[in-house]
Amino acid sequence: MDVRADAAGNLRGLYAGREPGAARLLIGSHVDTVPDAGAFDGVLGVVLGIGLLEALGGRRLKFAVEVVAFSEEEGVRFGVPFLGSRALVGTLDGDLLGQKDAAGVTVDEAIRSFGLDPGRAGEAVLSDDVRGYFEFHIEQGPVLDSLALPLGVVDAIAGQSRLTFVFRGRANHAGTTPMHLRHDALAGAAEWILAVEHLAGGVPGLVATVGRIAAKPGAGNVVPGEVETSLDVRHADDATRGRAVDALLDSARRIAARRGLRVEWTTQLDQPAVPCNPALTATLGRAVAAAGFQVHRLTSGAGHDAMILAQKVPVAMLFLRSPGGISHHPDETVRPEDVAAAITAGLSFLHELDRLA
Ligand code: GLV
Ligand code: MN
Ligand code: MN
Repeated sequence: MDVRADAAGNLRGLYAGREPGAARLLIGSHVDTVPDAGAFDGVLGVVLGIGLLEALGGRRLKFAVEVVAFSEEEGVRFGVPFLGSRALVGTLDGDLLGQKDAAGVTVDEAIRSFGLDPGRAGEAVLSDDVRGYFEFHIEQGPVLDSLALPLGVVDAIAGQSRLTFVFRGRANHAGTTPMHLRHDALAGAAEWILAVEHLAGGVPGLVATVGRIAAKPGAGNVVPGEVETSLDVRHADDATRGRAVDALLDSARRIAARRGLRVEWTTQLDQPAVPCNPALTATLGRAVAAAGFQVHRLTSGAGHDAMILAQKVPVAMLFLRSPGGISHHPDETVRPEDVAAAITAGLSFLHELDRLA
């Protein structure tokens, strides 16, 4: 492959095809991860893309294949996910480049300190000669494991909202401030976090998570004056997700008012659910069946770079079973025989696409 890093730090390898005019296939996933992660979320999809081309044994397809290792998908550092894939669809704009991490470093500065020039982000944008995007990924959930199936064909990716909340009360002395005279920001946030759990538990298919919390000033003998929390809300149906977010904003407002706190929020992500491309997904399904595997269709609860690529090109995804359904955790794993199954099904997919090209 001819390999380069684009201006967003995505590593891209181009495996040329036999027919220069034939539209390219992209295969990709991400190489960033979450704190205390496992070893397979994202990077397995990149390694499988390279492994698939290796399995061609030097043969060339009619069309070129570009393997993309996306630089930033999780959104852990800057709060906004999919920075790498947004560069390919041309939405890594000034707003995003200005987002700051916890230390006040902007995306723009981070890219420059990595030795790349965000001013050249336009060069990362996909040209029109792309026939589709294909992503291998671990399922990150229990469905395929429970059905004893190695592979699953993704039909859609659930939408997600990500917000940051700040509860403000009044810091004060923990020894001298009677309970009824406090404005404890952490106790208010805690009450709201339980409301988040309660609301999500009552709506089928809804998941809502507060995964990050920071209290200030952060001393054992001080009533907390300010608390920042994250909120992550997901559902396959965008209207249900929207109603849930509205209800949780309302609940934050009511809890804060009752406790004499102020609350503010900012929205980092309001990403609608994304259907995979029906035609490309049907081709993938045929390829999986031809390779001898049962075709099980499922919806992804996790977000993927495919959601962003879908704005510009047809996307399809193949899931590999996650033993125990564990992910975003060091115990995340994958079975070698399922990786082999993915390569076999992936080769079948490439051959089917080659026949259609
Ligand atoms: C990505 O892993 C996500 O949070 O869905
Ligand atoms: Mn992840
Ligand atoms: Mn991932």
